[in-house]
Formats: sequence, C-alpha cells, structure tokens
Amino acid sequence: MSSPRGQFSSKTGFILAASGSAVGLGNIWGFPTNAAENGGGAFVLIYFVLAFCLAYPALMAELIIGRHTRSNMVSALQKISTGEMARKVGKYTGFFGVIIATLILSFYSIVAGWMLAFLLEPLSTITGLSEVSDWLTEFGNTRNLIFSAVFMIFTTAVISAGVEQGIEKWSCRLMPSMLLLMVCLIVYVMFQEGALTGLKVYLLPDFRQIGDPQLIASAMGQAFFSLSLGVGTMLIYGSYLGPDENLPAMGAIVTLVDSSIAFLAGLLVLPALFVAQQQGVTIYSEAGNLIAGPDLIFQTLPALFHGMGAIGIPVGLVFFCLMTIAALTSSISMLEVPVSYTIENHRIGRPTSAWLIGTIIFIFSGFIVLNFDTLFNFTVTLTTEYSQPLLGLMLCIFATWVWHRDKMLAEIRSGYPQVEQSLFWKIWPSYVRFCCPALILLMFVQGVLN
Ligand code: TRP
Repeated sequence: MSSPRGQFSSKTGFILAASGSAVGLGNIWGFPTNAAENGGGAFVLIYFVLAFCLAYPALMAELIIGRHTRSNMVSALQKISTGEMARKVGKYTGFFGVIIATLILSFYSIVAGWMLAFLLEPLSTITGLSEVSDWLTEFGNTRNLIFSAVFMIFTTAVISAGVEQGIEKWSCRLMPSMLLLMVCLIVYVMFQEGALTGLKVYLLPDFRQIGDPQLIASAMGQAFFSLSLGVGTMLIYGSYLGPDENLPAMGAIVTLVDSSIAFLAGLLVLPALFVAQQQGVTIYSEAGNLIAGPDLIFQTLPALFHGMGAIGIPVGLVFFCLMTIAALTSSISMLEVPVSYTIENHRIGRPTSAWLIGTIIFIFSGFIVLNFDTLFNFTVTLTTEYSQPLLGLMLCIFATWVWHRDKMLAEIRSGYPQVEQSLFWKIWPSYVRFCCPALILLMFVQGVLN
C-alpha cells in the first residue's frame, strides 16, 4: 500500500506551517540571548544579513528539491542524482538527515516538556498546591520524563492526523495565537520600569564586535537552526506544496516571518530581563555576562513573574503558553521527517508510523534525561553545531552540482513563469553553487577550531 501523498490546501497553510517550523524555541530563547551576548544590535544586524544571504538561499535549495521530487530527503536526493555514485551519496546523506532530525527532536522535546511544566505551575500556585509547584519547577528525572512524554504525545497526535488535517490545521490555529500572545506580552513589559535599559542593550549596536568571528559563527548557527535547515524539514514541507506556488516568494516570506518573530522576541525577553533587575533579580552572572542559558528562562523570568504579584500569574501563564506553542509547531516538523520516510519508503501507514517513531524518540529522550550531564549537551552540539551545517552544505551541492540546472529552472518556473528574467535566477544558482558551500565550510571550520 502506498498512501496518497498529502498536500497543503492553501498558500497560507504552507506559510503558517513552514513559519511554524522555523519559529520555535530557537527564536524566542536562542535569538535574544545570543544577541545580548554578542554585541546587541551588531548581532541583530549580522543575523539579518546572514538569514537572507546564506540561510534563505539554502532554504530555497530544500524547497525546490522537495517540490520537484515530491518525496522525503532520502528518495529526493537519489531522484535528482544521475550517476550510481551520486545516488549512493544522496541516499546516505538523506539517511543522515533523518537521523539528525530524530536526534534533534529527542532533546527538543525535553526542553519543550520543561515549558509545559512551567505552564502548569501558575495553576498549581493559584490552587495552593505548593508542593506540586515545587515539583513542576525543580529539575528532576520524573518530571522531565513525564513532560517530555506528554509533549511527544501532542506532537505525534498532530503528525498522525496528516498534512492537511494535522500539520496545516494546527499551524493555522497555533501561529496566530502565538503572535497575539507575544504582542500582548511585549506591550505589557514595555510599560514596566527598566524596560528601556533592556531595549538599549538589545538594539544599540556595539560595532567593535561586528567582525568578531565568534559573533558571525553564532549568527550563522542561529540562522540555520532557526530556519530548520539541513535535515529535510523544509524539503518535506516543500514537497507538499502545489505546482502553482511561487517558490522564491514563499521562501522569502518564511524567512521574513522567522526573522521578524525572532526580532520581536528580543523586544520581549531583553526588556523583561532588565525589568527583573529593577525588582532585585540578579541578571548578570559572576563573570559579568548576562544570564542566558536555562537559568534565564527557568529562574530569572519566573522570579520576575513572582515579583509582579497577582498579575504575575497570568503573565507567566501566557509566557510559557507562548513557548509551548512555538515548540509544538516546530516539533511536528521534525517528526514529519522520519515519519514521511517510513510511510513512503517502507509502506507503513501514517498513524502506525507516527506512533512508532514517536515512541522511539521518547525512548531516546529517556536516555538523555537519565544521563543528562553526559548526553544533553553532547546531543545538542553533535546535531546543531556539527551535523546541520554539513548537511546544509550537502544540500547546496546536490542542488547545484549534482542536479540538472534545466530541471531546476523548470521546477521554479512552475508558479513563477518569468523567473529567467528575475534577479533571483541571475544570482541564486551560482551563489548556491560557490558562495554558500564556501561560506558554510569557512564558518564551520572556524567554529570547530574555536
Ligand atoms: N527552527 C526551530 C526553532 O527555531 C527548530 C526546528 C524545527 C529545527 N525543525 C528543525 C531545527 C529542524 C533544526 C532542524 O526552534
């Protein structure tokens, strides 16, 4: 049985789903703290340049390959290859992508589980269950396991319902809600004392840092993670896109939405940090750096919410609701990668495949939870710092060195008949052929040496 392939029913459905994949914890947590650590506005500037000049072209490679081949990354890279050798490399690259997507989800679901636990905490506070509140907010194996399981159940339920009824339907509900919650919080935080200082730290560029290799490497990693590149998530979403959609425009909208929401998240998180400082919460570590890692989200901000009195309860609730929604629209896109592969290449039905792989990923998460100190950072570094850029590099190579240029052009032309006269076609192919691989490699090597 080969099940008929799903497809997004509308342009908006695709845009919300792909932006939902892109907008996640990486935007709301990663981007603002990266900016604060790397020269504020200088980082924001470099990030925007890299998002459009490096990540957008790589995103286009995935979308075009996906829509042309109408399949998952393993089959897609084989289909666009001509020689035996290229087909083999394509197959293994695709496999590697599927495995990395699986591993990314196994740590992502743990972090998303923490968001869920913190989302419930205000409710237990209201009802006076202080022991439950402590359990929810303290790091512990049972809590971590239970909440990553609950989060995986949500993710799997959406994916099991399919492309239109699951991914598209839920992205269309969740993305606007998330944006609304975020705007409400920004408006609220901006009126608090101290917010302006945070705004300055975020937006005033420290130009001395602009050429700093560390800043550039962080911005590139952030851009790749944020646009969900390399592991075939965007490739598979592209494969569910109809033939009359204009691909370069779609990709540009997704990049724009993703960067704008990251930018908005900075308007929330950094001012909130300095509002917390006004209330006596420590926001600098002993080394003098702004608190950025888990402590920011799970200590500094909750301390701020507690300090706000009664209003802090709904504010905290909204904040963690925002985080959970952002995480969910991203995690579904990660799970779709291995699920689409097993549906298409092993002829397993969608619900069976979704629940089977969801369970396997939960088992991986369990291993990570139980060996947290050794496995968590290791998995994050292995997948996001090493594998993602290398896979992005391979995709650029497959799109422009292995695949026929004419076939690629024909694919873009469908939905964009004037593409040959466009600036996009004048620049993009040679850019992805030469510049992207060179830049990715350069920054990768630099990152590894660091
Ligand atoms: N882009 C998401 C974020 O910013 C995470 C994400 C979704 C992702 N799919 C991915 C990251 C695939 C890497 C690969 O949080």
